[in-house]
Amino acid sequence: MSNQNDHHEPSEKPPGRKEMSRRQFLAYTLGGATAFMAMGPVLPMVRFAVDPILHKKGEGEFIKVVEESKITDEPQEFSFELQQQDGWYASKATLTAWIRKDEKGKIYALSPICKHLGCTVGWNNDKNFPDEYHCPCHGARYNKLGKNLAVAPKPLDTYKLKLQDGWVYLGQVEPNTEVK
Ligand code: FES
Repeated sequence: MSNQNDHHEPSEKPPGRKEMSRRQFLAYTLGGATAFMAMGPVLPMVRFAVDPILHKKGEGEFIKVVEESKITDEPQEFSFELQQQDGWYASKATLTAWIRKDEKGKIYALSPICKHLGCTVGWNNDKNFPDEYHCPCHGARYNKLGKNLAVAPKPLDTYKLKLQDGWVYLGQVEPNTEVK
């Protein structure tokens, strides 16, 4: 006598390798497509978020300052505006430079920031020391090239400079290499 229960057919086949692969394939495909579609709007946001960090501040930037023809061998003070980006905060700074040309016509631009403690120097502004830069804070003095003569430990910095279409353009401030 046979027992029906002995003749047991499994109601469901154990999951075969082929069936699992198909399921996995569908899951991966759908998951991948969803992730890809989700990244569409996210990527520009990520780029927006990190963009200011990836760009170094003002590097390689030059600002049009003054016509070359206005530069004389006597240092003159010129102001210009620099667009600054500090992370996501944009602002404008007004900078000044003392610009002159030498006897060969080469143009130089000095930073007015005193190398003692950071006050602002002026040209020919102390009757006792004519034809020098003088700092009113503690009496630092510099010659026409920016060489430190008293108080300050270093020469005045220079601006990177380029000439284009008859205009003087200024860039980053860098250590003065014209004087020792
Ligand atoms: S800051 Fe210029 S002399 Fe001190």
